[in-house]
Amino acid sequence: MSDNFYNESNDTPDQAFEQSLRPPGFEEFCGQEKVKDRLMLMVEAAKRRGDVLGHILLSGPPGLGKTTLAHIIAAAANSKIHITSGPQIEKAGDLAGILTNLQEGDVLFIDEIHRLHPSVEEYLYPAMEDFKLDIIIDQGPNARTIRLALPPFTLVGATTRAGMLTAPLRSRFGLTDRLDYYPVNELAQIIQRSARLLDIEIEPAGAKEIAMRSRGTPRVANMLLRWARDFAQVKADGVIRPQVARDALAMREIDEDGLDEMDKRILEFTIHKFSGGPVGLSSLAVAVGEDASTLEDVYEPYLIMQGFLKRTPRGRVAMPAAYAKLGLNPPRTAYEQPDLL
Ligand SMILES: Nc1ncnc2c1ncn2[C@@H]1O[C@H](COP(=O)(O)OP(=O)(O)OP(=O)(O)O)[C@@H](O)[C@H]1O
Ligand SMILES: [Mg+2]
Repeated sequence: MSDNFYNESNDTPDQAFEQSLRPPGFEEFCGQEKVKDRLMLMVEAAKRRGDVLGHILLSGPPGLGKTTLAHIIAAAANSKIHITSGPQIEKAGDLAGILTNLQEGDVLFIDEIHRLHPSVEEYLYPAMEDFKLDIIIDQGPNARTIRLALPPFTLVGATTRAGMLTAPLRSRFGLTDRLDYYPVNELAQIIQRSARLLDIEIEPAGAKEIAMRSRGTPRVANMLLRWARDFAQVKADGVIRPQVARDALAMREIDEDGLDEMDKRILEFTIHKFSGGPVGLSSLAVAVGEDASTLEDVYEPYLIMQGFLKRTPRGRVAMPAAYAKLGLNPPRTAYEQPDLL
């Protein structure tokens, strides 16, 4: 991958850590069985026909394995992967440069594809559909378009916001798949795999304690595993047993549902400052002191999935579970008037 558009040597230690734990093939990628089955089928069919793999869009909250899957897809198809992201492609010319560098069958991975500039997106349509690129050369009266033929390639797009993709872009993907939060048993397997790779001693029940508090997210699971290892080395005998895991995570103020300080702040503010809602995303973001898009991409989906919050046309509403979490009784009236929710 020498010509990745990202300079790999600029990776932070955290990115290097993530890469070291990235499963190389479908067999080692835990969970998401249906998504995996569909992807494997598509790769296998393309291989048998000797065709270039169709375009694939992967969506879902951060840290669930979209980038990992893009690498796995490319490896399974025996293709070279080129990596870029929506915000990195500023002008149509940048895209032209990337596309004309591809070889037949290569995978172009565009992360955060929902952040592509609309003017760039338009150039992508014919490139995806007919492997053609229209380039405008010269300006004013001399301006003319030339059409370049591109080698057939596979676009793999990743997004945390499938809803923000324009319909024409979405419709040009042969497969659109969504990754969901992982159940505890799968996260426990991921933690045990990572522990093996990192030479960390962990009891299965210890892995489960960490898995329960990982917000359904492998990235969080791996991060908490590292924390528990540090804790076990300093405060115990180095082995992550269940009690060690619980103490380690209590020190990070992560509770048994995986909620951290920011999650609890969000629930507290919704209930106390905004009378339980409905409250608009931007007001809530200002109140808790977090960026609105982080709130929407990272915190909210998990709180909604766990039944603490509900998204309504008029804003976010705290659900009875949120009151229970804070040791409060939910106001009965709100839930007896369904039109309020
Ligand atoms: N199913 C899985 N099995 C094992 N490890 C996984 C799995 N999914 C993700 N991981 C690990 O979790 C980490 C984060 O995954 P990845 O970078 O692919 O997430 P992402 O969906 O691309 O996140 P983002 O939206 O933030 O880019 C990686 O280190 C990867 O090794
Ligand atoms: Mg990613």
